[in-house]
Amino acid sequence: MEKKKRTLSGMRPTGKLHLGHLVGALSNWVKLQDEYDCFFMIADWHALMSEYENPKLIKQNSIECAIDWLACGINPDKSTIFVQSDVKEHCELHMILSIITQLAVLERCPTYKEQLREQTKRDLTTYGFLGYPVLQAADILLYKSDVVPVGMDQLPHLELTRLVARKFNNLYGKIFKEPKPLLTKISKLMGLDNRKMSKSYENFIALSDDEETVKKKIATMFTDPKRVRLSDPGHPDTCNVYNYFKIFKPILKEEIHDYCLNAKVGCTECKKNLAGAITEYLNEVQKKRKKILQDKQAIDDILDKGAEKARSAASETMNEVRRAVGLKSGHLIV
Ligand code: TRP
Ligand code: SF4
Repeated sequence: MEKKKRTLSGMRPTGKLHLGHLVGALSNWVKLQDEYDCFFMIADWHALMSEYENPKLIKQNSIECAIDWLACGINPDKSTIFVQSDVKEHCELHMILSIITQLAVLERCPTYKEQLREQTKRDLTTYGFLGYPVLQAADILLYKSDVVPVGMDQLPHLELTRLVARKFNNLYGKIFKEPKPLLTKISKLMGLDNRKMSKSYENFIALSDDEETVKKKIATMFTDPKRVRLSDPGHPDTCNVYNYFKIFKPILKEEIHDYCLNAKVGCTECKKNLAGAITEYLNEVQKKRKKILQDKQAIDDILDKGAEKARSAASETMNEVRRAVGLKSGHLIV
């Protein structure tokens, strides 16, 4: 049998997971599990880079993140689920890769510039934060990933990973693969206020939100601004509510398009329907979450086992790296 291709992806544990994570990443990860040898990593060191002034929640958030992943269908029998800081090899490779990464490439990185601009409440002008994409490159290269499922926003980091891999291979011999992006095809889910869905904008529906909260949040959603009266025809294709419908209740797509376009139903009613559809969707996840929470030890065990598997793959690569670079600790694999 042909060996499965390897893939690694990660998420920073910075708080509650929301519908954006589910639609943009998790539902895709779940599908990849049969086709690929999957490594899913909780990037707690990456979280620390921006939360270092107040890191109290990182540990709890990491565990919550694992629970949400399991509830959404990430299966520990198929995939390796682990916490980044449990595998110290990430740090060692990060260090070696930093040596060969040009400063200018990091300073030019669009995500870096954007974060400095947007995160005005945090001081991100640190040496560590500049190296964020180098640690991400280490995450990916350590497992010799063939592909990396990412959203568009992460493409610059993948490009940097490929660049660093190429440079390393040219200098020391071909150790690393140049990973390819696996872009998520799913349409993007905007926040409730039509801005980018983000924790800092408070414009999301969390996976843990109950029916009442979902109703309240959906009621605040912007609708078609050109539809003032009930009798005005709506423009579903430019309405965020309709976009949500397409994702969470695709079988009703045509019906809603029709009732909106022909002004058969008002926006308030339409949003009530959407709240119902999303609640139904979340019920499944929440039921599974409750079940998982009944056995906390099992969650610890999954993360321990995942870390062990990750460590074993990572230490093989690191041995090759040390030997290639010519470090004394690069002994043959015993
Ligand atoms: N930077 C990614 C994000 O914010 C998280 C991440 C860390 C990651 N390491 C990774 C994603 C490796 C893919 C591969 O979404
Ligand atoms: Fe949007 Fe629904 Fe109103 Fe149409 S009826 S404009 S889809 S909220």
